[in-house]
Amino acid sequence: KNSLILKKTVVLVGMMGAGKTAVGKALAAQLGVPFLDSDAEIERAANMTIAEIFERDGEPFFRQKESQVIGRLLDEERGILSTGGGAFMSAENREMISERGVSVWLNADLDLLWNRVKHKDTRPLLRGADPYGTLKRLYETRVPLYARADLNVRSDKTYSVDMMAKKVIEAL
Ligand code: S3P
Repeated sequence: KNSLILKKTVVLVGMMGAGKTAVGKALAAQLGVPFLDSDAEIERAANMTIAEIFERDGEPFFRQKESQVIGRLLDEERGILSTGGGAFMSAENREMISERGVSVWLNADLDLLWNRVKHKDTRPLLRGADPYGTLKRLYETRVPLYARADLNVRSDKTYSVDMMAKKVIEAL
């Protein structure tokens, strides 16, 4: 099942709402390689949603699981790996990803991210009183770290998911 065309797993990083899951699925389909998703894998293994894990066990526990799952997925097979928005913030995760994968930052601006996430309540980090302020603060602190990814693919509200997948392929 391992892909012959990928030398390394392609790891999509970036903020909530950047399209990591949607673009990852399209990319995997276009290339005919496996699609891997760290958040989905954490939820499957725990049989709980990310929000439930945050609520019951706290964010540090989630981050621990996230590192374990990313390490395991990078070992298991080559494919397209979508990560959660916070995954690339840990130095340990960045190191694992850069050794065993190619990181691609889906780089969307704050307005676009907000437009995509504001109607959903699936994201525990945005459940407080000022979700826009929280997203903005996360965006500002995270951008310098996303910028360390191997590749930077700009997103825009006019780009379709398939176009974004093509842009990633062109960048690889
Ligand atoms: C998080 C993003 C989420 C999920 C968790 C924490 C973050 O993934 O991992 O809620 O820290 O930005 P998405 O980026 O897929 O929303």
